[in-house]
Amino acid sequence: MNLKGRDFLKLLDFTPEEIEYFLDLAADLKYKKKNGIPHEYCRGKNVALIFEKTSTRTRSSFEVAAHDLGMGSTYLNPTDSQIGKKESIADTARVLSGMFEGIEYRGYGQDLVEELAEYASVPVMNGLTNEFHPTQILADFLTIREHFGYLKGINFVYMGDARYNMGNSLMVGCAKMGLNFVACAPEKYFPDSELVETCREIAAENGGSIRFESDPMVGTKNANVIYTDVWVSMGEPLAVWEERINDLAPYQVNSALMDNAAEGAVFMHCLPAYHDWKTTIGKEMGEKFGRDSMEVTDEVFESDASIVFQEAENRMHTIKAVMAAVIAGV
Ligand code: CP
Ligand code: NVA
Repeated sequence: MNLKGRDFLKLLDFTPEEIEYFLDLAADLKYKKKNGIPHEYCRGKNVALIFEKTSTRTRSSFEVAAHDLGMGSTYLNPTDSQIGKKESIADTARVLSGMFEGIEYRGYGQDLVEELAEYASVPVMNGLTNEFHPTQILADFLTIREHFGYLKGINFVYMGDARYNMGNSLMVGCAKMGLNFVACAPEKYFPDSELVETCREIAAENGGSIRFESDPMVGTKNANVIYTDVWVSMGEPLAVWEERINDLAPYQVNSALMDNAAEGAVFMHCLPAYHDWKTTIGKEMGEKFGRDSMEVTDEVFESDASIVFQEAENRMHTIKAVMAAVIAGV
């Protein structure tokens, strides 16, 4: 498998075999990291990290992974760079291509990262857009594989706003890798119908399925994985909280839903999560709407079924695999 020079913009662009290759490579790199085995496959190279939205995991993962691969990294944010305000995406792409061997981009529309890739002559990697978050799915699938030993046939239930980056990307990932995907939400939060059709066709080829359900107890029955994400995503106005809470409160992941799932079910979340009042927004919205948690209860988040921190660590190993593969052809 040689993925050198490929952009990593969305999982729709990759075959199941290629996705499996990223996961196998990530597992190998994780083993090497844990055992102190050097893996500087990108020695002497450099990667640009553009973040138009905030980040803890993704930025840390790219920076640590770059360092472990022997590669330099430069962080560019909207306040301190010319991107967007004084310089177009197309010009930025061509400038950075002269200095770096890879470019990561986190921002708003998927069209922006696609445009960056069109004009760049080095691989571009999507660190999250409104529509897709593909590096997160690699981490999620590595974690599921570590926990259950396989991916095909896993009953995967996504609770909440399924029409945004996480719902879309998880649906694509499940279709590609043969998991049974259920999105459980009110109908208006189901993904775009064209993407659903595409995923149904992909799932049929790979032995998976795609289903939508609005009853939380029906949706979570037999689930092996219950996954959720914030109800209000980065870039959305605070004004939408009230509507989201009203619409999505019945889909909060709580102990009743976990008990309703299959024996040995796990809880997953891309993080950050509003499971208590220990964040400014969590406290402000919690007080305003009389809730002690949002998309997941603190009880489930802190329970033995929760594998969210293993999942978070795997962001680094999987992002490292992506960079090693597309920048160095590992
Ligand atoms: N899950 C995730 O992308 O986290 P960050 O926003 O902290 O990067
Ligand atoms: N849907 C979330 C994902 C964060 C990793 C957001 O876009 O803010």
